[in-house]
Amino acid sequence: QEGAENYLPPDRRLPGLREAARDCRGCDLHRDATQTVFGAGPQDARLVMVGEVPGDREDRTGEPFVGPAGGLLDRALEEAGIDRGTVYVTNAVKHFRWTRDEKSQRRIHKKPARSQIVACRPWLVAELEAVTPEVVVCLGATAAQSLLGPEFKVSAHRGELLDALDFPASPPRVLATVHPSAVLRAPEENRKQAYADLVSDLCVVATAM
Ligand code: URA
Ligand code: SF4
Repeated sequence: QEGAENYLPPDRRLPGLREAARDCRGCDLHRDATQTVFGAGPQDARLVMVGEVPGDREDRTGEPFVGPAGGLLDRALEEAGIDRGTVYVTNAVKHFRWTRDEKSQRRIHKKPARSQIVACRPWLVAELEAVTPEVVVCLGATAAQSLLGPEFKVSAHRGELLDALDFPASPPRVLATVHPSAVLRAPEENRKQAYADLVSDLCVVATAM
């Protein structure tokens, strides 16, 4: 329960990190999840996207952003002129947090607690140090609070290029935007605008690189 720090391997390259993360017990989330969902994408990616926590589909497949939120993210990236194949995609927290819906019996995603975000942060920092991207996009408040501090407000500072907080080595520039799931959940009458705003934030990233 002491955080991921004690599970980090001496070899900090991506394959070694991914391997070691399989056995992480840095917080209690590993107990009810199927597997660690580590980041995926090229080691030399210039852009890293950070989500919140794996969803049901990600928990089953072991890959980040392969469910509905991932589909929307792929479309938004394409519209902004960014090829997802060139992006390293990961999450602030690497085990699925869920609760069983009484009615449907489906596993419903639950927001990770602050303590779990802090516990899992060493994996995220290690990934960013291994990939050394130019820009990191935080998708939603959880990722933003992991890299920009617990007081950070996405609504006040979305689309701005900022410096990561408490970053050991040379910090990448960080831009926060909304989570693709927030676009999916937006009321019908606001959804088009929410999507357009996400694409517009990603266009800031595309221009900066
Ligand atoms: N939502 C996330 O934050 N991450 C995923 O990998 C999938 C859905
Ligand atoms: Fe380790 Fe993160 Fe999983 Fe917690 S959520 S057990 S810190 S990998």
